[in-house]
Amino acid sequence: LREAMRGLKDGPSEIRHVHVIGAGAMGGDIAAWAAREGFRVSLSDINAKPIGQAMRKAAAMLDKVLKSRIAVRDALDRLVPDPGGTGIAGADLVIEAAPERLELKRSILREAEARMKPGAILATNTSALPLPDLASALADPSRFVGVHFFNPVSRMQLVEVVRHDALAPETLRRAIGFVAELSRLPAPVRPTAGFLVNRALTPYIAEAILLMGEGVPKERIDARAETFGMPMGPVELADRVGLDIAVEVAQTLAERLAMPLPEMPGWLHQMVREGKLGQKSGAGLYEYDADGKPKKI
Ligand code: 3HC
Repeated sequence: LREAMRGLKDGPSEIRHVHVIGAGAMGGDIAAWAAREGFRVSLSDINAKPIGQAMRKAAAMLDKVLKSRIAVRDALDRLVPDPGGTGIAGADLVIEAAPERLELKRSILREAEARMKPGAILATNTSALPLPDLASALADPSRFVGVHFFNPVSRMQLVEVVRHDALAPETLRRAIGFVAELSRLPAPVRPTAGFLVNRALTPYIAEAILLMGEGVPKERIDARAETFGMPMGPVELADRVGLDIAVEVAQTLAERLAMPLPEMPGWLHQMVREGKLGQKSGAGLYEYDADGKPKKI
């Protein structure tokens, strides 16, 4: 954190306009939170539907966290749906929040880089992919950085700022400054797969799922973790993160880290194939009611 604090003292990020590519759970939340914190934000996606969903979710979140109607209206005015991604050209910071597929992310980043103005920063919200594997797609990796948020962005204080060898110190400083300007805690981390949080979180979640496979009731696993002090047990957390994401991150770690890791079981992969992805699909390891709450026995 010494580096983070130094970044804060070295002046503002000079970022005013943020463009977010990908209006899924993370991209939508990042865009909404940046608008709340006073940034001008444009939000694009390859499909129009997720942009509409993200705008509705943003309105609900802003209603909850802001006191006055005027403040909500002002924040929503700063958040612009931008299906064609025209905002990329004028943005001071472009954040890629597309699905966790290496080739997809590489091509989105390459395209964004070609459209960005000189001096702008390009960031990825990847959960676990090593930064050098993404940076090598770019003509100028010195202005590329990882800025990894956690779900739900409105409640989670930590943001991992991911370094890599080609990163310019000025890009790191501005990324750290931006995270602080979002009222979030920037934690500079190394670029190895899973960074810091997912490297610890993924084996924890995988062990809980393996325990379930051995016949331990999920409610009991979660209740014990909660008594231990976790705000939410690992089985429910896997559902909230999304089982598809949990499986993808576990695969990334297994393929790239030279250490034995608990493997997600075949039955979990099968659930993902059947579209049982957790809270977002209404069913996962738990079933969910209309308010998105898990049905626990
Ligand atoms: N993902 C999505 N939404 C979540 C969530 C999660 N991980 N955790 C909580 N929420 C949502 C809840 O659905 C609820 O939404 P609602 O207001 O629309 O009903 C809202 O946040 C509040 O949740 P709680 O009812 O649990 O409220 P509390 O005040 O008791 O606790 C909390 C809030 C501290 C955020 C607690 O829920 C918590 O700690 N959750 C786990 C958060 C977490 O560990 N996130 C990291 C996930 S890993 C990740 O994002 C990295 C990625 O790379 C995989």
